[in-house]
Amino acid sequence: MTEYSPFSLHGKHILVAGASSGIGWAICKSIVAAGGKVTGVARRADLLQKMVQELGEGNAFFIEADLATDNGIEKVAAMMPDVNGLVYAAGVSKMLPLKFIKRESLEELMNINYFSMVLLLAQMVRQKKIKRNAHSSIVLISSVAQQIGTKSSILYTGSKGAMSSASKAIANELSSQKIRVNTIEPGMVQTAMASEMEDVISAEAVEKDKAKYPLGYGMPDDVANTAVFLLSDASKWMTGRSLTLDGGRYVLLD
Ligand SMILES: NC(=O)c1ccc[n+]([C@@H]2O[C@H](COP(=O)([O-])OP(=O)(O)OC[C@H]3O[C@@H](n4cnc5c(N)ncnc54)[C@H](OP(=O)(O)O)[C@@H]3O)[C@@H](O)[C@H]2O)c1
Repeated sequence: MTEYSPFSLHGKHILVAGASSGIGWAICKSIVAAGGKVTGVARRADLLQKMVQELGEGNAFFIEADLATDNGIEKVAAMMPDVNGLVYAAGVSKMLPLKFIKRESLEELMNINYFSMVLLLAQMVRQKKIKRNAHSSIVLISSVAQQIGTKSSILYTGSKGAMSSASKAIANELSSQKIRVNTIEPGMVQTAMASEMEDVISAEAVEKDKAKYPLGYGMPDDVANTAVFLLSDASKWMTGRSLTLDGGRYVLLD
């Protein structure tokens, strides 16, 4: 006899934007492990293909698309079947002090981190691709950066702040269709994005930063397991909210 679990994603099909690496990839893996099906979207088709092979055809599917473009967003919305949930994990980071910021870099980060999230959701909702009155759930991967003020993080912090703020208004609009919207705000998670950040600061500074995390830096599956909770019926009373995952970094203070 199969026991019912509110954490199961059995019978649910989830779209994951930003599925080719890091947190998005780990979320795809966790969705399938929880019994769901996943369609991953990103630009690097070779990595998406690998993901499908690893997770099994029939469990995982992919769409190659550049979400920073209207064409890419329209392609995804047109190709997707109706889904029970969507995770937006596509994003980029760039550290730049204020005096070096120009419109181009602001637009680059806002485009993929914020505009494309809103535009993808708008297309999916317009085309009624997110099942209504069926416990559907949207999870946005924001960042703890939007709660604090790290040096040189204006571009990134602003884009994630926009995402986190807008998530509440989106949650409000979609609540009449019983579609839930929540964000996850992680601290440092060991992915390619974190390595890129480590490239621009010294190894010593990284060690100093790591030491400030009581539970150390996070792993992609720490975020993925939380995403499964938010996608599952276990969180069916939760919307418009945010979960901070930072190994205690910004709450357990000396
Ligand atoms: N790592 C951290 O410490 C950390 C902390 C807090 C929040 N986050 C957030 O978590 C999310 C995932 O980050 P990560 O650390 O897993 O980084 P990552 O490994 O670099 O993953 C970023 C993902 O976004 C996709 N992406 C970027 N631009 C895209 C575009 N134009 N079209 C479609 N897909 C695009 C990438 O795929 P392609 O390159 O194949 O297109 C990749 O799958 C990001 O939103 C990031 O801001 C990360």
